[in-house]
This record gives sequence, structure tokens and C-alpha cells, in this order.
Amino acid sequence: MALTNTNKPAPPEHIAIIMDGNGRWAKQRGLPRTAGHSAGAETLRRIAKHCNTLGVKYLTVYAFSTENWKRSQEEVSGIMKLLRRYLEESLRDMEKNQVRIRFFGDLTRLSPELQQLCRETEARSQDYKVQMNFCINYGGRDEMVHAARAFAADVAAGMRKPEELTEDLLATYLYSADVPDPELIIRPSGEQRTSNFLLWQSAYSEYVFMNVLWPDFSPEDLDRAIEEYHRRNRRFGGT
Ligand code: IPE
Ligand code: IPE
Ligand code: MG
Repeated sequence: MALTNTNKPAPPEHIAIIMDGNGRWAKQRGLPRTAGHSAGAETLRRIAKHCNTLGVKYLTVYAFSTENWKRSQEEVSGIMKLLRRYLEESLRDMEKNQVRIRFFGDLTRLSPELQQLCRETEARSQDYKVQMNFCINYGGRDEMVHAARAFAADVAAGMRKPEELTEDLLATYLYSADVPDPELIIRPSGEQRTSNFLLWQSAYSEYVFMNVLWPDFSPEDLDRAIEEYHRRNRRFGGT
């Protein structure tokens, strides 16, 4: 196990988080659900900063799923507005933060303005080494369909042969191309399911489920999840 100079084991290279529990947090306080999302965005800032301090190279966060369109129009537009604000602030503070931002998901369903903002954020941050992946209109199944279509199109165009397809090649067609699989996936809020998150990439991820709502999730909670991860015995099918 790699050690840092404080003799603490090195953190996972890639941590993914299902940012869940915003609605319940708001309900507990008699606030509208959007207030929970707003508090959740603040939590993300704190946690992203803490990941940076710990030396985590990739942070992937589930912000909006392909199923979340089922929510009220008011809630969906509130979340989109928050995303927009978050990205505008990230653009503003880009040089200070030095974080590369990428998006996993089908962005074509977002407003043209938000799509443009995503493209601009990706382009302007592409040379930074630490990376945050925002999953927006993301679904693990949708990602695989998207990859299968792209591969089929390459076959139809004569650039690939069906028998060339391997696990490694398929991975290059996913939104997460070039990003290593997450070692640790954290889901706060008490729910114990994947909800369509990183289905391919999580084949051997360690899941840590926590009973805290995302707006209350603290840097110490992240430390606890990492400690739990270090206690796990990863076998990858071996002995
Ligand atoms: C997660 O919090 C944020 C999104 C899914 C966009 P929820 O809004 O799902 O919060 P709960 O699960 O209802 O408490
Ligand atoms: C998963 O949470 C999606 C995000 C956190 C963005 P949900 O709240 O949508 O998941 P379910 O409905 O509880 O499975
Ligand atoms: Mg939820």
C-alpha cells in the first residue's frame, strides 16, 4: 500500500459520489426541495476542495440522472439553474482552483446555453491535472447504448470489425474514456442501490453507504469513507 509522508495510506486515485438526500434535508427543515439542492452544491464545493487537499486525482459526482427528468418541472429547472451557477463560478475561479472539469452524460437534452457553458468549461480547463467529472443527464445504461451505437457506426463506416471489440476497446467509447475506474463509490442518504450510476466502471469498486444526507456530508465523513475503504480486502476475483 502506497504511503504518504504522514504514514497514512494514500487515498484512492478516483472517488465517485452519488450526491443523494437533498430533498429529505430540505423537508426536515420545512424548506422547498430546491433549497436542499442549493445546500448540496455548497457541500460539493467543500468536498471537492477536501479531495484536492488529500491528493485525490479524479472525483466523479452524480448530479442529475437520466431518470431525474421525472421530477416536477420546477425542481428540474431549479437544479439546472444551480448547475449553471456552479459552472459559471468554476469558470470564474478556474485559475485559482486548477481543476479540469469533464461531463459524463447526454448533454444534448440540456438547454443550448448550458451545453455551451459545459463545452467552454471543458475546453478552458483541459490542461489541469486534477479532474472533476460531472454526471449530468447520466445513466449507466444510456452510456452503454451510446457506446454501442458509436461502435456500430465505426463498424458501418468500415473503421472497425465486430470481432475487434474487447473490454478495453468498449471502454474507449464510454463517457469515461481515459479515466480509470473508481476504487471507491460513496452513497450518502441511507439508500443502498446504484440508481444507474457507473454500471460498467463499478465492476470492482468498493461501495460505502452512509447514513448522512448529502447537504450534511462533511470532510470528516469523506475521511471516514476512505478509512472504511482501506479496511476492505479487494480480491478482484482472486483469492
Ligand atoms: C439528490 O438528492 C439530488 C438529485 C437527484 C438531483 P435528492 O433530490 O434525490 O434527495 P432525496 O433523495 O429526495 O432526499
Ligand atoms: C440518484 O439519486 C441520482 C443522483 C443523486 C443525481 P436518486 O434520488 O435519483 O435515486 P433513487 O430514485 O433514490 O434511486
Ligand atoms: Mg434521492
